[in-house]
Amino acid sequence: MYAPAPIRGNASNKKVTVPDLRARKARDGHGAEKIAMVTAYDYTMARLVDEAGVDMVLVGDSLGMVVQGLSTTIPVTLDEMAYHCRAVARGLTRAHLVGDLPFMSYQVSPAQAVESAGKLMKEGACESVKLEGGQEVAEHVMRIVRAGIPVVGHVGLTPQSVHALGGFKVQGRGAGAEKVIDDAVSLEQAGAFCIVLEAIPPDLAAHVTSLVSIPTIGIGAGNACDGQVLVSTDLLGLSLGHQPKFAKRFANLGEQAIDAIAAYVRDVRSGEFPAAAHAYKPNASSGRTYEAHPPLDPSDLDAPLALDLWH
Ligand code: KIV
Repeated sequence: MYAPAPIRGNASNKKVTVPDLRARKARDGHGAEKIAMVTAYDYTMARLVDEAGVDMVLVGDSLGMVVQGLSTTIPVTLDEMAYHCRAVARGLTRAHLVGDLPFMSYQVSPAQAVESAGKLMKEGACESVKLEGGQEVAEHVMRIVRAGIPVVGHVGLTPQSVHALGGFKVQGRGAGAEKVIDDAVSLEQAGAFCIVLEAIPPDLAAHVTSLVSIPTIGIGAGNACDGQVLVSTDLLGLSLGHQPKFAKRFANLGEQAIDAIAAYVRDVRSGEFPAAAHAYKPNASSGRTYEAHPPLDPSDLDAPLALDLWH
């Protein structure tokens, strides 16, 4: 049975709860400890991020792009989300688990939103759900919260609306700033316990953070937010190709993985792997010998099939 080791990020081993996270809101410009959130999509990554001391783990619908190789998050289904959430939940002992509601699993009606959120809690073992949008989903958020399910909001760049927004672009410029503010305020009023602010100017994120009484979690929103979230494969340097400007690489594991796999290929081809150290004890060491196999009688090969399938 896996016994969790003391976590490394200077945090305690205690399970992170929604009230704990709400209490991390900076008040009057004085910070509580900032919230560190990352995405994970499977058990192995969940074990690693939990051990590292993150506070919140998001099974984001970004799994469509990171795991499934899609160009947007739009095709991701609720069943796929529940499957990945379940796997991640098994790897967490401390961090709070948030499951993303995918496109068209909540927009249709508040009742649909409650049902989908319930599925992620029951089948995905999530502890809260996240959904994208502001005023237009406030009623949906209220109904989910009334069902006893904590909700994380998400405003600014909302990737499920990529086509309406004209691409993955910075939001909240010009008149768009008012929309981000109104959206954040309506999510707070609807009962969300924190809000992700994605790809907005840092001054706007600072203003929203000072305006709402719940924590804000930034991604491409500057450092005034009450916490930060990054996609785990971006922060580990596992994503090849284009990286968003805000995605700091804290390691280069992609390059290391390629080097390691290339070394494996070389050793297999040269016969250097597996060495004796990677093999089981041979039978020969117990004195077992093998009889020479009698040669095959070539006439056996010409014998007719016992079962004639054609006639
Ligand atoms: O789906 C996701 O991973 C997200 C984060 C980037 C906030 O929504």
